[in-house]
Amino acid sequence: MSTQSSINEVQPYSLEGKVAIVTGASKGIGKAIAVDLADAGAKVVLAARSLNVVEQAAVDIRETGAEAIAVPTDVTDVTAVKNLIHTTVDTYQNIDILINNAGNGIFGTVDEFDPADWDSVVNSNMKGVFLCVKYALPHLLANGGGQIINVLSVAAKVAFPASSAYCAAKAGALALTKVIATEVRNKNIRVTAILPGSVETPFWDDIPQHPDFEKMLKPEHVSNVVLSICQQPLGMVTEEVVVMPPLGIL
Ligand SMILES: NC(=O)c1ccc[n+]([C@@H]2O[C@H](COP(=O)([O-])OP(=O)(O)OC[C@H]3O[C@@H](n4cnc5c(N)ncnc54)[C@H](OP(=O)(O)O)[C@@H]3O)[C@@H](O)[C@H]2O)c1
Repeated sequence: MSTQSSINEVQPYSLEGKVAIVTGASKGIGKAIAVDLADAGAKVVLAARSLNVVEQAAVDIRETGAEAIAVPTDVTDVTAVKNLIHTTVDTYQNIDILINNAGNGIFGTVDEFDPADWDSVVNSNMKGVFLCVKYALPHLLANGGGQIINVLSVAAKVAFPASSAYCAAKAGALALTKVIATEVRNKNIRVTAILPGSVETPFWDDIPQHPDFEKMLKPEHVSNVVLSICQQPLGMVTEEVVVMPPLGIL
């Protein structure tokens, strides 16, 4: 005989009125995720460094009738991340979902790679995840649970030439994701790593030798997966998803 709690464990989780932070939400995959979560009824907090771009992304969402705010944030900066979390809680009272998506890519062989570029890539892709989880976690716990979804890359598992910082950062962020999952799984917080292959976004704008845009995923392919994970029933967790273009590694 089904009880109400066992029914809830297999029903889709409604995002109506839930509060979701999306980092790197001004463009590309993060913006598509913010739009999809807002369409599903979530109140969305968009974070990225470029004030005007992230503000415009939030305006675009509000024009659909959904609730959204922009909080200019560098996820590598402790003070900025604390401000992101405080502003979210001040505005919407709690946090249900944290999507760590912000990240950059700088490419070059190890012998020619600038140490400052190493710091930039490792800090945005890995330290940013640590900081956002660290400061959001008390609020997820106070709220009785929630979800953390980290948008990583197949580069967490596949060695690409001229990609040392990016592969190391994504592999580190995958390890970090698994550690966080072990720490919070008994506290009603579900943690997911998403590992996309190539996606047609502004990520590639400054990279002359990129794969064929025609063969890449679209941002909406990844955001659809993120949305479905956010809506998954309470009685399950999707720990890791690899999302690839049909032709695989391009
Ligand atoms: N495109 C691909 O082929 C691909 C494939 C697999 C995984 N990914 C991953 O997917 C995520 C999103 O990538 P994308 O393709 O959508 O890239 P994108 O179009 O370049 O967007 C990146 C977003 O992250 C923000 N960002 C970068 N550094 C940040 C920082 N330190 N603090 C806060 N925000 C920051 C950017 O805004 P600001 O610059 O204004 O801060 C922007 O909103 C990244 O983690 C990327 O590694 C991308």
